[in-house]
Amino acid sequence: MKKGEEIEFIKDGKRLDGRTFDELRNIKIEVGVLERADGSCYLELGDNKVIAAVYGPREMHPRHAQDAKMAVIKFRYNMAPFSVDDRKRPGPDRRSVEISKVSREAFEPVIMREYYPKAAIEVYVEILQSDAGTRTAGINAASVALADAGIPMKDLVSSIAVGKVGGEVVLDLNAVEDNYGEADMPIAMIARKNTITALQMDGRLTKDEFGRGLKLAMNACHQIYELQRTALIERYNKRESVKFEEREA
Ligand code: CDP
Repeated sequence: MKKGEEIEFIKDGKRLDGRTFDELRNIKIEVGVLERADGSCYLELGDNKVIAAVYGPREMHPRHAQDAKMAVIKFRYNMAPFSVDDRKRPGPDRRSVEISKVSREAFEPVIMREYYPKAAIEVYVEILQSDAGTRTAGINAASVALADAGIPMKDLVSSIAVGKVGGEVVLDLNAVEDNYGEADMPIAMIARKNTITALQMDGRLTKDEFGRGLKLAMNACHQIYELQRTALIERYNKRESVKFEEREA
């Protein structure tokens, strides 16, 4: 498929992958998947597969980059060479630097950084497989990994993209929709407060489309928040019951 080529994105009210306009892809969340990290999460969003790992709070190095009043958040988004169709050249590029910055900023309003002056909280997001929306999948996974690491936060952050394909405002674009559609708008928010902590837009939306997209994203973030919360509760219930069995034995 080439850019500009006519694609029938919508047929009988359904999208290419059979979803309705306001339907999320399948989401799977697993908490505490890595032994060596303080907190971790494996997350699938449709065909996206991502891992988030959190370290800290620990002393910030180099020292000159410390903040005397609060912890510094380091966020590294990285795409594995095998995560895309054509092998991606390993290492940082403009895109990953931008996504790391936006993702870091999405967490700044919720992490209680003032508790840990001169410290660093490190978040690593590794994209193992991509199908558009990797930054949103990474933010959702990072949010759970931060909670798993016990980092004090005011709330979880949830994230999803909305966009425009075939003239319709749709939720959670897949790769074909993202690459050949008319607009893509990833959003991160504190779902319980409807507070947006990150918003980007690629393409054009009218004011009305923007409003409808925002509404779709807000509803979806509430659903994602519940999945994040459930995954954390399941993990810690399991851990508690193992401890209890150990005590009983
Ligand atoms: O992944 P996300 O939607 O957050 O970011 P994007 O820059 O809009 O990229 C959309 C999709 O394009 C990615 O999820 C990948 O599937 C694909 N992509 C790729 O194939 N090669 C790259 N170097 C970058 C992106």
